[in-house]
Amino acid sequence: MALTKNESRPPVLTIDGPSGAGKGAVSAAVARRLGWNALDSGAVYRSVALAALERGVAADDEQALVELTRNVDLTFRAGSDGIGVFLGDREVGGSLRTEEVSVMASRVAAIPAVRAALLELQRAYRVMPGLVADGRDMGTIVFPDAELKVFLEASVEERAKRRYNQLKEKGESVILSRLFRDMQARDRRDRERSVAPTVPAADAAVVDSTHLSLDEVIGHVVGLARERFGDQVPKDENQ
Ligand code: C5P
Repeated sequence: MALTKNESRPPVLTIDGPSGAGKGAVSAAVARRLGWNALDSGAVYRSVALAALERGVAADDEQALVELTRNVDLTFRAGSDGIGVFLGDREVGGSLRTEEVSVMASRVAAIPAVRAALLELQRAYRVMPGLVADGRDMGTIVFPDAELKVFLEASVEERAKRRYNQLKEKGESVILSRLFRDMQARDRRDRERSVAPTVPAADAAVVDSTHLSLDEVIGHVVGLARERFGDQVPKDENQ
């Protein structure tokens, strides 16, 4: 059923899934085509992790991490190249993708009180004309009442291959079999953790991108958004 413009609450489309499924690229492109805001919740956890590393907070000091999370001055706003991630006045986007930050982010993300402290910050991005939110628990925990939920999957072989090609393009030397093993381990940790595990919401549309191109996935998700949101999404969006 398509929603009408009379709905006063800003509409939300959530895109969850395991790492390497293409959530980031799909979410950014869909948000652009719908003219909606975008929330990259992985960048939220990565920013908290970066702040913790910079301040020398240990990964097992839960109290200090929760305190830091409550006080973190994190914003997404116009940066040097589109929407930038800022800690205070400092644009930190370029520092968020290191291995050190990735590891710290997943440790920080496993602390229930840290996740709770970030709920309000994430929900504040639900503003008109709408929000595309990507992560692991957008449809299950952060926006359980989202009008459209997508769970984006791809086989672990395909996700490892995509990550391998990305890293190779950046000139990094990587071993495919190791990436594959690491990804399997990370999947298991994310799926089986007790707090906000990476599982599809009961009412999510599961999209398997293993045999689809990025453009095909974007087109499919935009199609789902049109069906669900009707005239809340522009008809002549930029392709
Ligand atoms: O998606 P991305 O790889 O940037 O996420 C970084 C880390 O943050 C992941 O390892 C994941 O465990 C965590 N995360 C999370 N919940 C989210 C988004 C990310 O636990 N909604």
